[in-house]
Amino acid sequence: MKSKTSLYFLLFAMVALFLGMFFGLSASFQYILPEFIKEHLPFSKLRPFHVTSVISWIVLCATGCIYFFLAYVEKFRLFSPLFVKLHFIIFLLTGIAIYLSFLFDYTEGREYFAFSPILIVPILLGWILFGINYFKTLYKHVRGWPVYFWMWGTGIVFMCYHLLEAHFWLLDFFRLNFIKDFAVQWKSYGSFTGSWNMLVYGISIYLMSKIKKDSNVATNKIAFFFYFLGLANLMFGWAHHTYLLPTQPWIRYVAYAISMTEWIVLASIIYNWKRSVLKVEKENHPMAYRFLLSTDLWIFLNIILALLFSIPAINFFTHGTHITVAHSMGTTIGINTTILFSALFFVLHQIYSNFETDRKWVRRGFVSFNISLFFFWISLLVAGAKRSYWMYVSKSGLFSEMQDSLVPVYISFSIFGFGIIVSLLVVAFPIFKGLLLKMNTKKERFL
Ligand code: HEM
Repeated sequence: MKSKTSLYFLLFAMVALFLGMFFGLSASFQYILPEFIKEHLPFSKLRPFHVTSVISWIVLCATGCIYFFLAYVEKFRLFSPLFVKLHFIIFLLTGIAIYLSFLFDYTEGREYFAFSPILIVPILLGWILFGINYFKTLYKHVRGWPVYFWMWGTGIVFMCYHLLEAHFWLLDFFRLNFIKDFAVQWKSYGSFTGSWNMLVYGISIYLMSKIKKDSNVATNKIAFFFYFLGLANLMFGWAHHTYLLPTQPWIRYVAYAISMTEWIVLASIIYNWKRSVLKVEKENHPMAYRFLLSTDLWIFLNIILALLFSIPAINFFTHGTHITVAHSMGTTIGINTTILFSALFFVLHQIYSNFETDRKWVRRGFVSFNISLFFFWISLLVAGAKRSYWMYVSKSGLFSEMQDSLVPVYISFSIFGFGIIVSLLVVAFPIFKGLLLKMNTKKERFL
């Protein structure tokens, strides 16, 4: 079979990432100059363009990696290569339809799925094709599955359910009761994140086990403990999204405790792996290795933030400020995106054993990415803290005065956001080049 569809998924994901970051940067300019391109693309449009594109980056890249690992690295014969092609075509066309839906204001959807709700139908269809293909391909090998196969399978199944759940509000039974509607909607968003985390964290364990050439990382008790913790998080970790609802406080505390422990366990798995990995193994995958180390650093920083704002007295002040945005971007960029870049470099090394990625510029891009992200994140925290101070402590001055005082912070946010984009462009350049070159070669067996 000569199809290269998994590589198309990866390219598509990278295009979504860079388009998404471009929208994010434009949105950040509007913090500083509210009139900037407002007539054509107001903040209310740029935000969904940005968020949908960057979430698509995570989901598409994880999907492409999983298809690639199964067919190319594990050498499984896929149940249906045709389904993979259909999956890609459906997602590509739906992606275009989502952009058109935003552009022409068909935005009757909600929050992270602001596009026209009908578009969830092809999205679900794509996931179902993925699920059938995945389980039909793997069920014969279920005995002794390493943890990443469980994680990917679980991620796919829960993704189907939670995408559906996020649209339950279309039914009167949910929509007509505010508490039910709100609870189900935000529960589904929390679990949607949990589902893609299953895919991405599964990829991180896969990478560690392959780089070290040691299956123990993915079959030992800690790895399975991590899986069950992740599953519990996926099912119950949404509770902190429903602060406004009259629920029992202990539900939130349990949810927070689970999500925090999940990170601690992943951080410790990466840390122990890092200590045991040999020099030669690092040298075989230098960039994949570095990105996994930076994942560890970002887990650590995000744990500190999350621990702080999970304290109810602090959460009261941070809720609805840029501190929450620092948490979402800190985790989706610092944790998800670093794991996925590690995976992209690993993929590149599978297709070209001698492809030189450890170049001076790529290393510099990697360092400046981490530095930019750090100051980007700090800018969001400062913006959040200042706003919270205005709202709850000083309680004086006009909103516009408070906004004006934030301009230097917003400028730093935009500058470091631009820094992230440029750094990732430098890092991604050899990956783009490698994938495109492979697209043009005819003979090899690919999925
Ligand atoms: C891999 C790259 C990125 C990812 C995964 C990402 C992810 C996200 C997510 C998930 C949100 C929603 C936050 C929430 O609802 O709490 C968000 C919002 C936002 N992002 Fe990003 N982002 C990325 C890069 C950037 C860059 C480079 C910029 C440019 C400065 C940027 C600017 C923004 C802005 C302005 C918002 C809206 C915040 C608000 O509602 O006030 N993002 N991003």
